[in-house]
Amino acid sequence: MTAIFWMNTKMSDTSIVKIKGRRVWDSRGRATVEAEIELACGARGRAIAPAGASRGAREAIDLRDADGMGVTDAVANVNGLIAKTLLDMDACKQEEIDRALISLDGTLNKARLGANATVAVSLAALHAAASAQGLPLFRYLAQGKSVRLPLPEIQIFGGGAHAGRRIDIQDLMVMALAAKSFDEALEMTARVYHAAGELMRDAGKLRGVADEGGWWPEFDSNEEAIETLVRAIARAGFVPGDEVAISLDIAASEFGSSKGYRLGLGGKSLDSDGMCELVLDWLARYPIASVEDPLAEDDRTGMMRFTAAAGQRVQIIGDDYLTTSAARVRDAIADRACNAVLLKPNQCGTVTETREALDLAKAAGWGCIVSARSGETEDLSIVHLATGWDAGQLKVGSFTRSERMAKWNEALRIEESLGADTRFAGRAALPLKQT
Ligand code: PGA
Ligand code: ZN
Repeated sequence: MTAIFWMNTKMSDTSIVKIKGRRVWDSRGRATVEAEIELACGARGRAIAPAGASRGAREAIDLRDADGMGVTDAVANVNGLIAKTLLDMDACKQEEIDRALISLDGTLNKARLGANATVAVSLAALHAAASAQGLPLFRYLAQGKSVRLPLPEIQIFGGGAHAGRRIDIQDLMVMALAAKSFDEALEMTARVYHAAGELMRDAGKLRGVADEGGWWPEFDSNEEAIETLVRAIARAGFVPGDEVAISLDIAASEFGSSKGYRLGLGGKSLDSDGMCELVLDWLARYPIASVEDPLAEDDRTGMMRFTAAAGQRVQIIGDDYLTTSAARVRDAIADRACNAVLLKPNQCGTVTETREALDLAKAAGWGCIVSARSGETEDLSIVHLATGWDAGQLKVGSFTRSERMAKWNEALRIEESLGADTRFAGRAALPLKQT
């Protein structure tokens, strides 16, 4: 009897007994941080920090060694300070773990420990807790509530900082609005992706792929890129806008600020009003359902003006503008400066802070998109966050390269595992009156 009692206690003991940090490598061949956590019951969790290329100025710090590349210090922080602080803490108490990381760091932007160290540890603890309960991560996060598979936003052409600034727009993506399931959304997107490749080949413009796996944007203008995407949607057999809509990440902070915007293609210089008009003109001319960072991260009045003009009919996402910060989401809700938030856990550095930003956005009726970074790995955490939190949308990059496909494929497995209970967020995930 005693022995059985002891074993049961042991099985349910979710206190952290071991934390290990190590250097691994991402999809750009750059070093990054992996954290592994072991609990007293034997359960383990593991997670890898991603890295951005077009980072918002207010993001938490991705701690690099003096050479700008290495993660020796960030890994040492996991194995030293962080391990010492979190040892014996209960992995099921995510908020306590994350608060401990935040106070150990003591800065406003994780400059001491590095958000690459904290996010890997925070997610590893989450995985360990789910594993201790014998649950897939999305189910552990859902806490018994029903979930929906997210509407995927999938890149067809890369651009901006992800393609040597060949064109100004960073991501030209599609959303399969007519899909009835996640599986169908991927099948529709695959058709568009290949149709786009055929168009590029026929035009003698096929040059390989950009950072996130989208076709390399061999275009003479931003408009040519958008028009080619519209043609690819039609060539794949879908009605542009109705069945498959366009989603653009302008990432305007990469080529401008509230003081002015300098587009590389066409050499145009625009003030904030001009940039606003340019993107509004694209919305009027093309079947676009979602736009991310149409103006720069410091261009508050520009974002407010843009949202006032288009927020009823188009999703307007803050990425660099919000940097997964609950405080910035709160301000933007008051300002009506966006109507959707991009959620990248490494922009703030913990699961709890990501969740806070999501909760505020959801309560305001905003769209919520859990997102990967351009520097990714085989880590699948974000797929489970998007589904388990019922965020509604997921952005992972394109439809090639295994650091991307691993995530789309994981969502397929989740969808299958839900069987008759499966629900797909679809177009209802967009914060629009009608789409
Ligand atoms: P990043 O870009 O991961 O290179 O910062 C992704 C995005 O802007 O959405
Ligand atoms: Zn972005």
